[in-house]
Amino acid sequence: MTQIVLPQHANVHGAVLGGTVMHWVDLAAAIVANRHSRRPVVTAAFDEMAFLAPIMVGQVALIHARLTLVDRSSMEIRVDVESEDVLTGERRRTGTAFVTFVALDPVTKRPTPVPPMLLDTDDERREHARALERRRMRLEHRRALARD
Ligand SMILES: CC(C)(COP(=O)(O)OP(=O)(O)OC[C@H]1O[C@@H](n2cnc3c(N)ncnc32)[C@H](O)[C@@H]1OP(=O)(O)O)[C@@H](O)C(=O)NCCC(=O)NCCS
Repeated sequence: MTQIVLPQHANVHGAVLGGTVMHWVDLAAAIVANRHSRRPVVTAAFDEMAFLAPIMVGQVALIHARLTLVDRSSMEIRVDVESEDVLTGERRRTGTAFVTFVALDPVTKRPTPVPPMLLDTDDERREHARALERRRMRLEHRRALARD
């Protein structure tokens, strides 16, 4: 997803607001989850997101989203954010987030199974192994919150 940063997206420093970037990340990840499952989806979890560099008004934000894990009804989507200076073409990585979406049955609105993910390359297999570990930690965190 490509987005020009306009003044209405900016904070007082002339850089895009973090919440606006998270909104774009959520949207791009939702499209990936929708395309994979062909079901309505909801955001279940948004892992921490660090903002490594600002994206200034007039620059372009590039939001790259891809599927990294599929479980029964849940999907993890990795989203990398880059800035692009349109005058020089220079690109810079500004952040990465991992977002979990859950597919819902269109009638019951309850979580519903999604098709498995096919892993073709060694890179995809390595990313998938890391995603399994992230999922383990995420669910541990969820259980801990439920106990609070
Ligand atoms: C996400 C939601 C559908 C899960 O419903 P639930 O009744 O807890 O269902 P389950 O416990 O059966 O969990 C369903 C799946 O979600 C996953 N899940 C639920 N909460 C999660 C979390 N915090 N982190 C990661 N995965 C989570 C479960 O692990 C399970 O995955 P699996 O089917 O692949 O094994 C429900 O909590 C919800 O509707 N949340 C609000 C979503 C929302 O409004 N988002 C913002 C707007 S889009």
